[in-house]
Amino acid sequence: MKSEILKMLRESEDYVSGQQICEKFGVSRTAVWKAINQLKEEGYEVEAVRNKGYRILASPDVMTKEELESQIDTVWLGKPVIYFDEIGSTNNYAKQLGENGGAHGTLVVADMQSAGKGRRGRGWDSPSGSSIYMTLLLKPEDLEPNQASMLTLVAAYAVAGGISEQTGLPAKIKWPNDIVVNGKKVCGILTEMSTEIEHINYIVCGIGINVNMTFFPEEIKDTATSLCLEYGQQVRRSTLIAAIMRQFEKGYQIFMETRNLEGLQEAYNDLLVNCGREVRILGAKEQYTGKALGINPQGELLVEREDGIVEQVASGEVSV
Ligand code: BTN
Repeated sequence: MKSEILKMLRESEDYVSGQQICEKFGVSRTAVWKAINQLKEEGYEVEAVRNKGYRILASPDVMTKEELESQIDTVWLGKPVIYFDEIGSTNNYAKQLGENGGAHGTLVVADMQSAGKGRRGRGWDSPSGSSIYMTLLLKPEDLEPNQASMLTLVAAYAVAGGISEQTGLPAKIKWPNDIVVNGKKVCGILTEMSTEIEHINYIVCGIGINVNMTFFPEEIKDTATSLCLEYGQQVRRSTLIAAIMRQFEKGYQIFMETRNLEGLQEAYNDLLVNCGREVRILGAKEQYTGKALGINPQGELLVEREDGIVEQVASGEVSV
């Protein structure tokens, strides 16, 4: 009910009376008063005026289940929300959910991770209070395991779109799924899945975004940044998560129509930081330089080598 009250207060331009809230949710005045006090304790500034009611004056960057639920306005993605102040890894938790009947679209969010995982066996530094660590549990119907990696590109498209929508920052994608702002990484995505022959049991798509961090260790400060540092002001994490959910839901639907990236290819390529630029492909077998031409409908990066041959790069790292 707290998230519903929050939503009601946020959506109203005027005061909302205690009576209105009581009637809408069929609860007592005392229950409303308690919920309002809890919101205040969580950091919301709620004004209470006799004979008028309640009004939200400020919602700081709180991340709670209620805050997230009150912001997420998608049809199915990001529902339900499972929130933790602290967890090992949201990806690992979502995988357990996947094994145990968790619903398609479930969003696992944490304020802090004690064992955050990055790609290629690396860790993902996950301090509290300033970043987004979240994982979506997806159970796509009629999708083959070899098509699943394309969902990571859908995620990148959604994150870049959500960041631009919320901040106006020029968020770009470094193929396949890093998000960069002004040349530095602000977000990484780690997709994992459980499959049987020709069948996907579930996919977990983990997203880590540097939102309000203002300090980066010496070894990464030239390659990593945060939205706050680039934007010059704090960004509310819950609002950003809601924007990403909207973009992801839209992108997912377009993707599932064809089970490939045909419908998103143009938009994705517009966001591609390496498009038309020289890139170095660090493949498992060889390394070479070429011009990135954009992705094909399968999400492979097309790279024109110096001899004019166009390679379709399915995996490997790209350095700009
Ligand atoms: C990368 O190496 O670029 C990918 C980083 C992915 C980090 C996110 S944070 C939320 C989710 N949980 C994890 O343990 N990792 C992903």
